[in-house]
Amino acid sequence: MNTPILKNTIAEIFANGKGILAMDESTPTCKKRFEAAGIPQTSEMYRQYRELLVTTSGLNESIGGAILFDETIRQQTDAGEPMAKALMKAGIIPGIKVDMGAKPLPEFPTELVTEGLDGLRERLAEYKTMGARFAKWRAVITIGEGIPTDACIKANVHALARYAGLCQEADIVPIVEPEVLMDGNHSMQQCYNVTEKVLKALFSELYQFKIDLEGIILKPNMVVAGKGCLIQNSVDEVAEATVNCLRSAVPASVPAIAFLSGGQSPKVAAEHLNTINKNFKNRLPWIVAFSFARAIQQPALDAWKGEQSNVKEAQEILSSRAKLAAAARRGEYSSSMEE
Ligand code: G3H
Repeated sequence: MNTPILKNTIAEIFANGKGILAMDESTPTCKKRFEAAGIPQTSEMYRQYRELLVTTSGLNESIGGAILFDETIRQQTDAGEPMAKALMKAGIIPGIKVDMGAKPLPEFPTELVTEGLDGLRERLAEYKTMGARFAKWRAVITIGEGIPTDACIKANVHALARYAGLCQEADIVPIVEPEVLMDGNHSMQQCYNVTEKVLKALFSELYQFKIDLEGIILKPNMVVAGKGCLIQNSVDEVAEATVNCLRSAVPASVPAIAFLSGGQSPKVAAEHLNTINKNFKNRLPWIVAFSFARAIQQPALDAWKGEQSNVKEAQEILSSRAKLAAAARRGEYSSSMEE
């Protein structure tokens, strides 16, 4: 492991108030999103959409790194350029999703464990030759009656630690993502309790597996009530709960936190991130940024509709959403900027 390489990659990704664009939706997720938007669900349409994203001009003003999916990193733009190369040319560092998805955890009917450790060392070596300098592994934790169980948390943080070790061995920065889902009717306090427990278990496991915390990016959820909860908290309440939770569980040696959006609307995700950075600036020992997928991409996907004639408009929307997220990262966002 070469710590300066890892630290340098992280510094480059988040330089000048930038964040990460997650564009690594797996084929089933892409299929679902395209179906909902009325776009044909073919590999070629996924390629065209990803080309739209990576060729958006000026995207590197707000995006320092973009996470690709395995299919995408093997695809090329119309000009015959590999997607990762197109990103590099645009001044954006390519990253790669390396987990193989969250699968049912045997004997725990409603819980999931993320798979993909077998052969990961070899896959990382290949992705590195394709230009990937950072990676992502997403663990999924569900809140519900009697869950998450300790077994589910343990299985997921173990896999995250093993993955992080293999990435660091290859000088690839691991994005470590333990996502506590917004699905359910749990309260914000329940989300706080579960997120704190998962993060504490995660950092204990990372310590045991000798992960260099200065060479990781943490990608957590914000602390919010479940989508089905009757009480939805104010932006200030969510920001405060999120900061308190992270401060209680995340070591200061972690250089950067990049939130997932998790199903929040683009505006709400930006408001939360902005308030965290604006109101709690002096309580944040880490860079607090974004690694959004839906909260940056969804309006652009809706505008594109799979039509070549809509590419320019979709790219303008994407660029503007990325700029708003970057403004929130700096604590300079305001809802009036939405107009
Ligand atoms: O792993 C999750 C994605 O990278 C982030 O997606 O911002 O739509 O939750 P999201």
